Amino acid sequence: MSDLIESIVILGGGTAGWMAASYLSKALQHKVKITLVESKAIPKIGVGEATIPNLQKSFFDYLGIPERQWMKHVNGAFKAGIKFVNWKKTPAPGRENAFYHLFGNLPSCDGVPLAHYWVKKHKEGFAEPMEYACYPQPEALDAKHAPCLLDGTRQMYYAWHFDAHLVADYLKQWSIERGVTHIVDDMVDATLDDRGHIASVSTKEGRTLRADLFIDCSGFRGLLINKTMKEPFLDMSDHLLCDSAVASAVPNDDARVGVEPYTSAIAMNAGWTWKIPMLGRFGSGYVFSSKFASREQATADFRALWGLPESHPLNHIKFRVGRNARSWVKNCVGIGLSSLFLEPLESTGIYFIYAALHQLVKHFPDTSFDQRQIDSFNKEIAYMFDDCRDFVQAHYFTTSRDDTPFWRANQHELRISDSIKEKIERYKAGLPVTATNLDEASYYDNFDYEFRNFWQDGNYYCILSGMGWQPDRVLPVIRYRQSSLDKAEAMFRDIKRRSEELKSSLPTNYHYLQSLQNGRASAHRQPHQTEPSSFS
Ligand code: TRP
Repeated sequence: MSDLIESIVILGGGTAGWMAASYLSKALQHKVKITLVESKAIPKIGVGEATIPNLQKSFFDYLGIPERQWMKHVNGAFKAGIKFVNWKKTPAPGRENAFYHLFGNLPSCDGVPLAHYWVKKHKEGFAEPMEYACYPQPEALDAKHAPCLLDGTRQMYYAWHFDAHLVADYLKQWSIERGVTHIVDDMVDATLDDRGHIASVSTKEGRTLRADLFIDCSGFRGLLINKTMKEPFLDMSDHLLCDSAVASAVPNDDARVGVEPYTSAIAMNAGWTWKIPMLGRFGSGYVFSSKFASREQATADFRALWGLPESHPLNHIKFRVGRNARSWVKNCVGIGLSSLFLEPLESTGIYFIYAALHQLVKHFPDTSFDQRQIDSFNKEIAYMFDDCRDFVQAHYFTTSRDDTPFWRANQHELRISDSIKEKIERYKAGLPVTATNLDEASYYDNFDYEFRNFWQDGNYYCILSGMGWQPDRVLPVIRYRQSSLDKAEAMFRDIKRRSEELKSSLPTNYHYLQSLQNGRASAHRQPHQTEPSSFS
């Protein structure tokens, strides 16, 4: 008898469920019997999703689905980064209270991130913000330009906004065509065998579903991983205070105001609001702490932000923050919200799904379920989550806002890990924040490398300098080297030149997306791994 896994049951038909079904079906060469059970009763969560650039390479390319194909089915739009609005107590005079967190690499000059040369200029009175000096994209984003030329040639790194329901529907069709069995039914109970593995799941309509491996994609309920396997959820609400959201889709007059090619994260009285533009509308939601704003207050603030009438339909979401102690227990693996949840401030939700799938495939078991494989998987997921939690948390304890009890609590009451404390200290000392800082485009080519080094110095620089934090002093070594300083000046000039070029050559995002929907423009003909030669 074979010791290979012969059957998988996936519980849950949301984004995580269908991403798991399609990815595993492809990875196992359609040889393992996969059954997905989608609940009738449980609504899917998702009011506009924002992603990160490796989604194409690590997920859709893996399935063999070109960008332009899936984008059209899911109301896909471009996102070249995140604009953080109102996160500062006092913005620089004459400037909008906003900064960008951009995709792509912060360039280096003679082995030192260019941002250090910017710090020197900044301390000498140079007023231009870090990201405008060190990256070529910001002015094109201000002008709401698309990240590619009309012929599809990519000019900067970008990711996507879309409607996650449509992604689930699209992948559902793709998976069913490739042999995944789809059942619409609700789980009522599960049985365990004598090893404590899940033996079967029974359903409302009287089915008994047996499998070697069970994937829990049942969302916050964690029906299998938490309820059946009784794995404890590690609550991290002492690290991050937000636990609720009120969300909606808001109509947008594209022709008049354009379509922003970025996600916005707008700081509020008791949290922040996401804005995820797509054609014709944007998804938006106010993520808040129920300790600091009642549902009524948050709803009123959210309506006021966009001028929404009382009749406008809203979605209320309550979430848990943290992760399961182990995401894989015996023959049950949690993927998506059943496994972990971090507020969407850095667009990591969808990434967590395919990152877990990538790790699951790397660690894919046979029926012996070798404990070392399971432990290694769990370690990777815990590292991924805690590292992202820390990065997101850093936004809250580095902001200068102290105008409401919520922002004051963030400054004084958070539990902060040693690892992020050390990184912030390194930043302040002018040291490299992360041990590795790839200066080359290849960052997005190697998923395992990016997985392990997810936040690079550029990410820390965008957020911390955006919040108004500068290192205490100019990195001494660059002050010894006039040639490096000259070289940096030339790089700054080159970035300005490139910025002008982008502004004058790129179509508006609105125009591009419209032609994409009408079938005229093509989405990146250029594969993501080759950077256009003019990119600096
Ligand atoms: N490695 C990720 C990337 O560059 C880091 C990241 C996650 C990120 N969310 C982001 C970078 C949002 C910029 C904006 O894609």
